[in-house]
Amino acid sequence: MRLVITGVTSGIGRGLAYHYAQPGAVLGLIGRRQERLAAVTEHCRAQGATVLPAPLDVRHTAAMQAYAADFIKQAGGIDLVIANAGIGDADNLSRGDAAYHARLFEVNVIGLLNTLLPFIPQMQRQGHGQLVAIASVAGFRALPGSTTYAATKMAVRALMEGYGWELRRYGILTTTINPGFVVSEMTAANRFPMPFLQPTEVAVCKIARAIARRRRVYTFPWPMAVVARLLPWLPGALLARVAPRRPPPA
Ligand SMILES: NC(=O)c1ccc[n+]([C@@H]2O[C@H](COP(=O)([O-])OP(=O)(O)OC[C@H]3O[C@@H](n4cnc5c(N)ncnc54)[C@H](OP(=O)(O)O)[C@@H]3O)[C@@H](O)[C@H]2O)c1
Repeated sequence: MRLVITGVTSGIGRGLAYHYAQPGAVLGLIGRRQERLAAVTEHCRAQGATVLPAPLDVRHTAAMQAYAADFIKQAGGIDLVIANAGIGDADNLSRGDAAYHARLFEVNVIGLLNTLLPFIPQMQRQGHGQLVAIASVAGFRALPGSTTYAATKMAVRALMEGYGWELRRYGILTTTINPGFVVSEMTAANRFPMPFLQPTEVAVCKIARAIARRRRVYTFPWPMAVVARLLPWLPGALLARVAPRRPPPA
């Protein structure tokens, strides 16, 4: 299999890289922290995979486009692309700082487009391929306190749904993964209860299985899938009550 994964230097992405690293696999690995990327590369090579690592920032459109062209040339095609790189934190609207919110969209949305779109022409030529996005249960409703993160994941869900309907006529499948809470660097910073928190390895196995089964959408674990279905029906007033209260700046 020939596949590319972004955000492989920690958490879910690293777990996915290890999962797919096996003899015969050509693995494109992307993440910014070079030492971490080198360690993951070494591990995957030791498992028998051919690895094409790149210390890229997914926000850089031209560099991502060039990497895709190079990967296709070296691997002779592409079967699977997993747009996993993502960031998220509390909104902290009291800071009045738009830059953080813009960065969230740049990484989670533009970065995803930069990752997936350059591979579409080759997949069309081949007549097959699978595009995967790691979205989130958070993308089912604007959640006070992390509304911007939720909005980026809503955008991802919408993009993947629409692209999926358009691309299926070319034999290209789309899979949107909506994890609940998973152990990773991202959740390590959380200071609130995280119901049904999943170990990284468990989450990785579930994601890989959903990809292999060519699921269009997969939300897990199942109690969070139920929550995801209920979230759109929650009264807004209830959400306002759980919104974080921050003192206005002096
Ligand atoms: N953990 C959860 O509970 C959870 C739940 C739902 C959805 N998700 C989603 O799952 C995905 C993976 O997150 P995670 O939980 O595994 O978090 P993580 O451990 O923080 O991993 C995030 C990865 O993204 C990479 N990354 C961040 N910004 C990047 C950029 N500009 N360019 C390239 N790579 C970048 C990071 O590597 P570098 O910093 O080295 O670049 C890192 O490898 C994210 O899309 C996240 O939104 C996570």
